[in-house]
Amino acid sequence: MDKEFFAAALQAREKAYAPYSDFAVGAAVKTAGGKVYTGCNVENASYGLTCCAERNAIFAAIAAGERRFASLCVVADTKEPVAPCGACRQVMREFGIDRVILANCAGKHLAMTVEELLPYSFGPESL
Ligand code: THU
Repeated sequence: MDKEFFAAALQAREKAYAPYSDFAVGAAVKTAGGKVYTGCNVENASYGLTCCAERNAIFAAIAAGERRFASLCVVADTKEPVAPCGACRQVMREFGIDRVILANCAGKHLAMTVEELLPYSFGPESL
């Protein structure tokens, strides 16, 4: 695994706003040009408004004008590498982020494609 990329996700996790679940998540997304954007989960007293770390990282990159991505790394303090939620898998699919590194804080990780995470998916070409 790319150590710096993992470290960026781990560092982003430190900023998580998760007073309700106490489950902090960090994510980093790398553009095709090699730039890294990060995100953490941000919860809300109106629970359903919570936004995951992965989407916050992707949306930060999009808001900065990025459109082409190489990979995403997500990390949480889990026994096994953390599994991204379904909504985040769909957003990764939207932007063609094919290589996804799932990790835990100890560095245990695995790499998966979005096709593996979200088979037979609906995407931009489906319209
Ligand atoms: N969470 C993420 O940030 N990413 C995921 O893929 C799974 C869930 C967050 C949302 C919420 O703040 C907390 O983890 C517990 O669900």
